[in-house]
Amino acid sequence: MWDEFVHESLPMRVVFGAGASARLGAELDRLGLTRVLVLSTPGQEPLARRIADGLGPRAAGVYPHARMHVPVEVAARARAAAADLGADGCVAVGGGSTIGLGKAIALEHALPVVAVPTTYAGSEMTPIWGLTDGGRKRTGRDPKALPRSVVYDPELTVALPVPVSVTSGFNALAHAVEGLYAPDASPITSLMAREGAQALLAALPLVAAAPRDLAARSRALYGAWLCGAVLGATTMSLHHKLCHVLGGAFDLPHAEVHTVVLPHVAAFNAPAAPALADLLGPDPGGALWDLAAKLGAPRSLAELGLPSSGIGEVVGQAVASPYANPRPVTADDLTRLVRAAHRGERPGPAQA
Ligand SMILES: NC(=O)c1ccc[n+]([C@@H]2O[C@H](COP(=O)([O-])OP(=O)(O)OC[C@H]3O[C@@H](n4cnc5c(N)ncnc54)[C@H](O)[C@@H]3O)[C@@H](O)[C@H]2O)c1
Repeated sequence: MWDEFVHESLPMRVVFGAGASARLGAELDRLGLTRVLVLSTPGQEPLARRIADGLGPRAAGVYPHARMHVPVEVAARARAAAADLGADGCVAVGGGSTIGLGKAIALEHALPVVAVPTTYAGSEMTPIWGLTDGGRKRTGRDPKALPRSVVYDPELTVALPVPVSVTSGFNALAHAVEGLYAPDASPITSLMAREGAQALLAALPLVAAAPRDLAARSRALYGAWLCGAVLGATTMSLHHKLCHVLGGAFDLPHAEVHTVVLPHVAAFNAPAAPALADLLGPDPGGALWDLAAKLGAPRSLAELGLPSSGIGEVVGQAVASPYANPRPVTADDLTRLVRAAHRGERPGPAQA
């Protein structure tokens, strides 16, 4: 990788720091936005209203109806609300679901999105959009979907419940792990992946022990920023493919699926990806599984609701469309991997 690479930096403006959401108005002024629609999930409506109040007349309204995986009908209603209010931009306050809704509006109405992330999912750093129609999720990349500015305020993350913080943190770690062996990794993305993962590996146990510890929250959010940037800049491999299938076909929860699957894929890919041992030690899959165990995260696909009768379907869908991976994968390999993840076994060091 050090001999030859292509690196393209995405345009990215980040305002980071405890209390940074108070500077959101100045960010909107910088972009010339005067009537924004503030988006959130129903659960984060109070926060969205507080943010809208702080924006004064720059806020045209609050739309608190974001849902996981951006159903097309939710996107259509949100676009109509933005048009009715004459909004000239959106402020997405929340996790990947809310930022995903902002992207869906941006795609069709070209309204700029300013993201205020409150989880570690990383969507705010990517031009990747996703829409779900009749249970099938379509995704794609479009520069229009990339937020124009991102305001990271760790104070907004102290209320993120510990179980969600941990699984969301694993979601971010997954971007770094797959970024390290991505076919289009560059020295820059690898630096960001290592730095981001190390920040999260250090911060997550502190967050789990003391969720209101602002220093730990800042470090975790800093790590999530970098891991999200890696997701936006590289091509993801087997892990993201499997999680996409599990989320799409079986409606399993996004961050939890990442948490359960990541140790197994890391163990499988480790022989072909020495960078994983540099980051996580000689047994990368085992190290990730042990961390999930220590932090009380789910470890089996069975407990997330995957029936054992569904394993064949998961494997079939995953092998049906080609994807990048540092180590070739057969249907038998995948069946073993998904079965082990289904049972919640601790992966051991894999043999090449
Ligand atoms: N396009 C991309 O690049 C990308 C990247 C990662 C994830 N995603 C997508 O994002 C979605 C998952 O995002 P997510 O894991 O952030 O979950 P989420 O946005 O659905 O949030 C999970 C829950 O936590 C609540 N919440 C969020 N922040 C909170 C806070 N600080 N305090 C209290 N509650 C809070 C939300 O209201 C929600 O109920 C999936 O649809 C996934 O596909 C997209």
